[in-house]
Amino acid sequence: MSDIVLEVDGLVAGYGTVTVVHHVSLSVPRESIVSIIGPNGAGKSTLLKGVYGLVDVSEGRVLFRPATGDEVELTGLRPDQITAAGINYVPQLANVFPNLTVLENLEMGAVLSRETMDERLEVVHELFPLLDDRRQQRAGTLSGGQRQMVALGRAMMTDPELLILDEPSAGLAPQVIDEVMDLLVEINRRGVSILMVEQNARRSLAMSDLGYVLETGRNRLEGEGSTLLEDPAVVDLYLGG
Ligand SMILES: Nc1ncnc2c1ncn2[C@@H]1O[C@H](COP(=O)(O)OP(=O)(O)OP(=O)(O)O)[C@@H](O)[C@H]1O
Ligand SMILES: [Mg+2]
Repeated sequence: MSDIVLEVDGLVAGYGTVTVVHHVSLSVPRESIVSIIGPNGAGKSTLLKGVYGLVDVSEGRVLFRPATGDEVELTGLRPDQITAAGINYVPQLANVFPNLTVLENLEMGAVLSRETMDERLEVVHELFPLLDDRRQQRAGTLSGGQRQMVALGRAMMTDPELLILDEPSAGLAPQVIDEVMDLLVEINRRGVSILMVEQNARRSLAMSDLGYVLETGRNRLEGEGSTLLEDPAVVDLYLGG
């Protein structure tokens, strides 16, 4: 068993004829947290979408190595096939169904047998007790932080080995950011690897085993989260001097 759960190797991705991600490579060690930071428009979301089968990939490979079973080449697979392989993804925006209740949102997370559904609901409700309390409330009437928990809970319904998260703290109040980040650490402690994009560079690097800095669609810097936090270039550009 390799200790790398996800390997992105020279990925080139974009929208039709527009290339946004240029030969980007990264690795996610098994059961680690890895953050990608970089300026607006650097291609961070596009990179995640390339991994999850949502945009055109013209070169490079994405390999997923589940804890048991064979390595899976994700390049060319559809998002539902990637989820079935053991990965789930939470997009930057529009990540809940606002007109559905909290419970319906969770149940939309996966096509599962009733028995498996109940088991997963139990796990998700244990992680996010609020989602149990608010099960009958429409997701669109929740606060931003509560909606983010619905989105994370829904992703956890498929029992993923790897979660891919696009700016889980976007738009949240500082105190709520702490709550969401603490939950991510708890999810990771339960053995789920996390690859996330974050604007909140200081907070995300501090909790990450590895960090990658992306600029204009290219790898710019990489290293241990704690090392990048002290890297003068990172401090200068992303941590406010
Ligand atoms: N659907 C699309 N069609 C064409 N170009 C797009 C599309 N989505 C994004 N782009 C372009 O791709 C580039 C990178 O966008 P992307 O959303 O990946 O950046 P990002 O690093 O996630 O930025 P942010 O920090 O603002 O979320 C931008 O120039 C953007 O205009
Ligand atoms: Mg983005």
